[in-house]
Parts: sequence; structure tokens; C-alpha cells
Amino acid sequence: MTDTDLGDPVPEATLDVTLRVNGTQHRIDVPGRRLLSDALRHDLGLTGTHVGCEHGVCGACTVLLDGRPVPACLMFAASAQGHEVTTVEGLGTLEALGPVQQAFIDCHGLQCGFCTPGFLTTITAYLEEHPDPTPEEAREAISGNLCRCTGYQNIVKAVCRAAELRRGTAEPAAADPPGGDEVVDEVVPHRSGTTARAGEQASGAGPGDVVGAADPDAPGAADRDTDTDPSAARRPAPPEATGEAR
Ligand code: FES
Ligand code: FES
Repeated sequence: MTDTDLGDPVPEATLDVTLRVNGTQHRIDVPGRRLLSDALRHDLGLTGTHVGCEHGVCGACTVLLDGRPVPACLMFAASAQGHEVTTVEGLGTLEALGPVQQAFIDCHGLQCGFCTPGFLTTITAYLEEHPDPTPEEAREAISGNLCRCTGYQNIVKAVCRAAELRRGTAEPAAADPPGGDEVVDEVVPHRSGTTARAGEQASGAGPGDVVGAADPDAPGAADRDTDTDPSAARRPAPPEATGEAR
């Protein structure tokens, strides 16, 4: 058989999908298997929705579907037709931040920010039904979202502060990191081999959340970088190249 016997590739059938996102209606022509996360990012340019694991594990892609959090990486765009989608872009503006966004700033709840959109949408939905959570309840609420660099302590504080902001009972934001988190003024070596530079916040330690010390058996561990994550050595080795087709 030669290449010419295979014929021309058959164009993939597309669907005319109407998505309502952050109050605006969009029509897109996409393959039926287009993921909602890809449609938001690539077809609508709403890149605030991040994609981490693509397996429904890390929570980075969380958006709200009719107000309820869903992993956009596990849903087809076509399945979102007829529903109201809210992304992180719909939670507030630079001029008028939403309470959860403001709380993350007040509580130093992020560092690189990659996980942050998923936390913001998750917490926004949670507070709708739980307007006055305890720290323990807040910790449970964010258990489906993974953060590799902030440490969950400040995110838990941000959940509670966001609840206060929503209720109108919040004190003015403290100038310093809340909860006694230490601000270091020298380079601090981390177990990962990376360092915290002078003046960076030393994040509070949550369960398995310190850089370089994450639980190797935690969901998402298989996605870690082998250069920075010692637990990656536990992964099964890829099949050796034998030259045979698999
Ligand atoms: S990218 Fe969707 S849950 Fe991780
Ligand atoms: S702030 Fe960097 S992964 Fe969460």
C-alpha cells in the first residue's frame, strides 16, 4: 500500500454552537469534540481559563455552568449550549473586582497565578451556598483545586475574607501578609532546588502544599516536572524504544 492509496484526509465535520459566556452570546463553528476549555481559550479568546492536567484533576480550568463549578477540560463545547457559562473574566473588572478576587489580593492568595482562575470560580460558587464558612469548611471547599506555589493557608484565608467582603463585615485589608506569614529578606533554599528571592513571601504550609514538598501520591502528581519534583521518579518508566510500531 502506498500513501496515495490512503486518499485525501476527510475534513472533520463541525457543529454550529452557540455559547453564552459572561452574558454575551457567541456562535462558533467547531468540531463536535472541541472541549469547552479550548473553545473558550482558542475560539473566544478568553484565556483566563487555564488548562493544567486536562484530566479533571487540577481544577485550573474550572468555570461556572449555570452557577455551578465544572471542569471545562472534561466538557464538550457543544454540551454547554443552552447554559450560562461564567469564566474568571466574568467575575469582575480591574475597576470593580469581585469579592473573591479582592480577597486573594488582600490575603496574598496567589503567586504565579496559574491555578488562580480555577480557585476564583470555585470559591465564587461555593460562597453562594455557604456565605459564612469556617476555615475548615473553606479548606474542604478548595480541595478540588491544586496550587503548586502559594500554599493553601492564604487561599483558605482568602475564602473567609471573601465571605466577609460579600457580607459587608470585612475589616480594611492589612498592609502585611495576614496570619503572621513571614516575609523573608534573604534567599531561602527550597527542597525543590529553587529559591525564594529576597523580599518574597514565605508561604504558609498547608497539607502537602510547600514547593518541592507536595504529596507525591496526590492527584496531578503525574503531571509534575521531573526536574523539580523528586516524586516524578516514582512514575513508571516509559516503554523503551524498540523500533517496533506499537
Ligand atoms: S485542566 Fe481541567 S481539571 Fe485540570
Ligand atoms: S499560584 Fe502558582 S500554582 Fe497556584
